[in-house]
Amino acid sequence: MSKNYLKTPFQLPCGVTIKNRLVKSAMTERLSNKNLEPTEKHHHLYKSWAQTGAGLLITGNVMVDPIHRESAGNVYVGEESMLPKLKTWAEMATQNDTQAWVQISHAGRQTSRFLTARPMAPSAVQLHKMGLFGKPRAMTEVDIQELIKRYVKSAQLCQAAGFTGIQFHSAHGYLLSQFLSPITNLRTDQWGGTIENRSRLLLRLVEETRKVVGASFPISVKLNSSDFQNGGFTEEESLQVIQLLEDKIDLLEISGGTYEKLAFFEGIEGVKASTRKREAYFIEFATKLRAVSKIPLLITGGFRSFEFCNQVLEKNELDFVGMARPFITNLKDIADFLEGKVDKLEDLLVRTGIKSVDDSAEGGYYARQLIRIAEGKPLDPNISPVKSSLFFLYHELKKSIQHRMG
Ligand SMILES: Cc1cc2nc3c(=O)[nH]c(=O)nc-3n(C[C@H](O)[C@H](O)[C@H](O)COP(=O)(O)O)c2cc1C
Repeated sequence: MSKNYLKTPFQLPCGVTIKNRLVKSAMTERLSNKNLEPTEKHHHLYKSWAQTGAGLLITGNVMVDPIHRESAGNVYVGEESMLPKLKTWAEMATQNDTQAWVQISHAGRQTSRFLTARPMAPSAVQLHKMGLFGKPRAMTEVDIQELIKRYVKSAQLCQAAGFTGIQFHSAHGYLLSQFLSPITNLRTDQWGGTIENRSRLLLRLVEETRKVVGASFPISVKLNSSDFQNGGFTEEESLQVIQLLEDKIDLLEISGGTYEKLAFFEGIEGVKASTRKREAYFIEFATKLRAVSKIPLLITGGFRSFEFCNQVLEKNELDFVGMARPFITNLKDIADFLEGKVDKLEDLLVRTGIKSVDDSAEGGYYARQLIRIAEGKPLDPNISPVKSSLFFLYHELKKSIQHRMG
């Protein structure tokens, strides 16, 4: 084998060095206790992931608001009293010289009805998906100012707890991504209209957080290359936002899609896995991005073979390779993959054959396996997709009742 680029260290603009180029991308854990704090299960999970040797672990959605959660079992970070539990979580995740960053988020209109019937969002544009989401109310200026304080406070607490960086989740249709999209942001004030206005909130969060966490603490943004929806956030707009973020952040993660178009799971519509020329769905966007930006680049979605990962790193198409599902289904192979001893992390594809239930079947399948790992149990490759789907709904409903905050 020629050089193993996956194993080379990389220094971020803030001065922090990440020991290699493999990143575990965010995967929502759904494991909090009824006070929305991390538990022993988080400890076990992150200890296992730190032991894989990956350079950076990004947590799943961690919420800045206890009501607007992406899942009923999310951790919420907003008060000093949470620090002891957060510290233990950070300690587990940073073992083995691993960087551990918290993905800070707010679900906006993608908050399920189980949690609130009337979520807040940039505008009152409802998400219609199996009747699961209520009609949102448009945020007021006071709500937005309050929200900025919440994000900054969460980032500050994560730093105080010992996490080594943060990531603002501005992709996949959550609140910051709702602000970016002209479909979900119909505002006519300084937070809506032009792309400069629609990205103002994200930029403000980065600037205000930087003032508090300092110049040497990594700040990352997860951004869609596009929403893949007619009239939605486009590649051109994504490139404009990236240019506005230049020199302000340490790592940009590219993904794509929303709850309405799950591009981050399946790849870009119309391009089937079997006919895709390249295994990672968002890599073509990297060329356009590299032409306009020097922000260190992480791309997530579909990377599975050592040769391909090594090649795109060698060609400098990106700086970090992000993977999510393999950290559940191929956990025991990750260390050898990093060494080039395992060629491919094969997907355990989950398909029911019924398109309308496949999303929740896949979500349920991975959620269930993730919870098994967190409980110290082995992977169960025979879990049925249909049962996974039901498990998913049951788990959300149960946690929503147990963890009701509103
Ligand atoms: C169970 C599960 C939970 C996920 N949760 C999150 C999340 O909390 N935040 C996020 O940005 N992406 C989340 N994702 C998306 C992944 O980060 C990633 O973008 C996607 O799975 C594609 O990468 P992969 O092909 O390597 O799995 C999740 C994916 C899975 C499978």
